[in-house]
Amino acid sequence: MSYTITLAPDNAAFTAEAGEPILNAAKRQGLNLPHSCQSGICGQCKAELVGGEVAQGAHAELALSAEEAAQGKILMCCAVPQSDIVLKVPGYNGAAMPPVKTFPARVASVVYGHDVAVLTLALPKAPPFAFLAGQYIDILLKNGQVRSYSIANSPSQPETLELHIRKR
Ligand code: FES
Repeated sequence: MSYTITLAPDNAAFTAEAGEPILNAAKRQGLNLPHSCQSGICGQCKAELVGGEVAQGAHAELALSAEEAAQGKILMCCAVPQSDIVLKVPGYNGAAMPPVKTFPARVASVVYGHDVAVLTLALPKAPPFAFLAGQYIDILLKNGQVRSYSIANSPSQPETLELHIRKR
């Protein structure tokens, strides 16, 4: 069984398998919806449920308050559709988003600050990489783990990616 997820207002649609969180389903089908932690902590994947039902999974109160949940807000990384649904995703313009691509990268430098490290990744010159201001990337680690970070440098310098990584 699968459910259809429609993004308002442009009516882009994708499907989620039974039990599959919305964000996972979108990624699997090449849709680059806003997100960061993928674990209900940051709130970056917040969306408005316009129609249908979801089961909202465990999350931090800071990411989604009870008041926001009562207003129909959800976290896409840990919400599982229970029917066909319609979502409004603030600031998301599917037509303007570049398609999801996977690139190798080399660590060009790491600069350690008091509580943040600035990691610069060098990308291959071809094929060219383009991104939008505020866009995230997923770093795929050798052990299979995935970490998401926002790109800190300007899209006018797409040959390197600068990431600001907070110490834990
Ligand atoms: S991606 Fe962080 S709360 Fe969903």
